[in-house]
Formats: sequence, structure tokens, C-alpha cells
Amino acid sequence: MTANYTLKEDIRDYWSRRSLTFDLAFGHRIPPGPELEAWGDAVTRALGDRPLSVLELACGTGEVSNVLMSRGHRVTALDFSEAMLSVARAKHAGRDQVHFILADAENTMEPDGLYDAIVCRHLVWTLTRPEEAFADWFRVLKPGGRLLVFDGDWAKPTHLGRLAGMTIKIIDRLKGEDPHYDGAMGDRHRSIMSRLPFGHGLTAGELAALLRRTGFVGIDIASHAPIAAAQRRTADLRNCLRTLLYRRFILSCRKPDAA
Ligand SMILES: C[S@@+](CC[C@H](N)C(=O)[O-])C[C@H]1O[C@@H](n2cnc3c(N)ncnc32)[C@H](O)[C@@H]1O
Repeated sequence: MTANYTLKEDIRDYWSRRSLTFDLAFGHRIPPGPELEAWGDAVTRALGDRPLSVLELACGTGEVSNVLMSRGHRVTALDFSEAMLSVARAKHAGRDQVHFILADAENTMEPDGLYDAIVCRHLVWTLTRPEEAFADWFRVLKPGGRLLVFDGDWAKPTHLGRLAGMTIKIIDRLKGEDPHYDGAMGDRHRSIMSRLPFGHGLTAGELAALLRRTGFVGIDIASHAPIAAAQRRTADLRNCLRTLLYRRFILSCRKPDAA
């Protein structure tokens, strides 16, 4: 067994254990209303408003799948955790705009040039072989196909985020910790992060450089602020503060058109 295999198994096990409570942790579920609209607007900004054939990577419990369907796209959603997929399948039972497959986002095994777009949220930071993954995504996109990445730097809180973090700790002490928030499996999370290529934190600039090297063009970095603002409309104080913790970004780019 190689060290890399062990790391991937750890990542899969970590998410599988979280599958039943994942939607209860703030920031994961995308409720209908302003938040669904804000995520949908970010998708439309990057992919346009024509219905597309989209490959969603690391779909988890199918929350982003729902955003994509809400904007008319046909979705093939993959994840390597059967536990996550079974939550997503149950959530979207009977909807024919989506189908779910068990697969590795770093080596999708999908045919060349099949998809108009690839979308992923909160996957890139946890890739074990990012450059191989990006080459695979480039391969399965049609010429002119688009890649849309929602992610963030989860290793380094922002300056404001440090203050928010301290305030959250005070609220935790007064009210008790939120058992479902990511910190609940903190030690395991930290151990995985320390072994990841982006364990030092993922920035939009670093990702853009790697994607350019893969061959992607037209890189656009958009603000996550409208989504955070929509989340704050319904969040309690502790969750409002959580929207300030980390620097998030929305990056889109495309495979060049055929010559
Ligand atoms: C933070 S969760 C995000 C889930 C979903 N994208 C969302 O935003 O709600 C990370 C997900 O990535 C999946 N994952 C991590 N590495 C993967 C890989 N190499 N291939 C497929 N899925 C992967 C995990 O199983 C988990 O469902």
C-alpha cells in the first residue's frame, strides 16, 4: 500500500463518516430562497444560461447538484464515497436531470470531450494529485468547455476571521459547541490537511497558475461575497461570524476552442 493510497482512503473514510450529518453543518446545505439564488447566479455568471451537460465532481450530498438543476443543467454527479452518494441519491430520487456515479475525481474514467462544463465545490483543496486531476478534467471537457471551482483557503483564517474565530469560541463556551460544525472532527481534519498538496492553504492565484499550465484559458476570479451575504440573511450570530473566517473564491476558466 503506498502512502498516497492511505491518504485517499483516509479522506474517503472521513467524508463517509460525515455523510449523515454533513447537511447539518453550516455552509453545506443550500436552502431555497436567497442562498439558492446567490449560488445559482454564480453558476449562471460562469456557465451562461443555456442548459448544459455538466460533470459535477465530489457532489457529496447533492447540494450543488440541486443548484445546477435549478438553472436547467443536466448533471452527472460523482463522488468516491458511497455513503455521500446514497444521501444524494435519496435526496434527488425521481429527478431525471441528475444521475450519480461512484468515481474518483482525480481520474474520472469519463470519455474524452463529453462535457460542456465541470463544476466542483470544496474539492480542490483536498486533491492528492492536483496536476493529474486537472489534466483529466481538461481531457473530458469539450473544446470551449468551462470549469467552475468554488473553494477557499481553509488553512489560514483572514485577519477579520481571527477575530470572528475568537468570538465564536466565546459563544461556544456560553452555549456549548455546535456538534455538527467541521471542528467536530478537528484532529482528523488537521491530520489529513497536513498531508495534502494544498494543506498549506489554497489561493485563487496558485490555482489559476496550475490551471494555466494545464492549458485552461480565460481565467476569471469572482467574489464569494454575494453568497456569504445571502447566507447571513438567515444565519444566527455564530454562523454569520463563520462566513468571515476564511478567504473563499469562485474561479472559472475554459478549455480553448478547437483550432
Ligand atoms: C467538503 S465535501 C463537499 C461536497 C460537495 N461538493 C458540497 O460542496 O456540498 C468533499 C467531498 O469530496 C469528496 N471527495 C474528496 N476527494 C474525492 C475524490 N478524489 N474523488 C471523488 N470524491 C472526492 C468527498 O467524498 C466529499 O463528498
